[in-house]
Amino acid sequence: MNLLDGKQLSTKIKNNLAFEISSLKSSGLISDLGLAVILVGNDPASAVYVRNKINACAFVGITSIQYNLDESVTEHDLIALIEKLNADSHVTGILVQLPLPKHISENAIISKIDPSKDVDGFTPYQTGLLSIGQKSLVPCTPKGIIALLEHYNINLSGAHAVIVGRSNIVGKPLMNLLLQKNSTVTICHSKTKNLADITKTADILIVAIGKPKFITETMIKDGAVLIDVGINRVDGKLVGDVDFEHLKEKCSYITPVPGGVGPMTITMLLQNTLEAYHATSRT
Ligand code: GUN
Repeated sequence: MNLLDGKQLSTKIKNNLAFEISSLKSSGLISDLGLAVILVGNDPASAVYVRNKINACAFVGITSIQYNLDESVTEHDLIALIEKLNADSHVTGILVQLPLPKHISENAIISKIDPSKDVDGFTPYQTGLLSIGQKSLVPCTPKGIIALLEHYNINLSGAHAVIVGRSNIVGKPLMNLLLQKNSTVTICHSKTKNLADITKTADILIVAIGKPKFITETMIKDGAVLIDVGINRVDGKLVGDVDFEHLKEKCSYITPVPGGVGPMTITMLLQNTLEAYHATSRT
């Protein structure tokens, strides 16, 4: 078994980004690299993710502005804030941490973000570009997974990639990215029949369902590559969707939790913010 070390790779990418941003700043080629992060309500996991994103911004030299809104904020007021940020030339990127409280439509909110500031790659415009294989701002978790697989030279062309989970944040965009890399892609979800029969055929198995240790020994083939997107808190400990301890000797590569996909997600957000800046700046 080999570890796919997302922490190590993300540190390397962050160091490169910090260097690039500081060189651009000192040569006067860049100014106002700013990320606006909106957090609604008191979900503890979301608060941790947002804190990690803000800290990562500081590390590479991106100015971040955090907006903490009350759980009871109206859709109308949230849209008003997004429109203000859309019009603010100091703001390069806008991120609305998901999930949102039930009374707010995520689709309604996301579609109000200016696509050129959509560093999460969630707007219909960026989603559409990705689905037809054009250059776009790509959602951070799938982008980080591809970067990790490529860093470890894992062959994607012709490989059977099975994704468990069909979310707009991970499963669907990852399907498009893997298709671009010529993988054969199967998506499974909560209504899939005979799940284990399908996961056992995966050369690369990506799991993003939020169920602790859901993938067990009998569900994978020998030598599979395992990508665990799950971050579940069990008895105060973080565990993934994959039963790491029991599968680590059966697979060829596996991402740890924590330290696998999570740090890559955050690092791709930083990269997207710089890409959004370059795409809109006139320098
Ligand atoms: N919630 C879980 N993952 C993400 C993400 O990548 N971006 C945002 N905005 N919210 C999330």
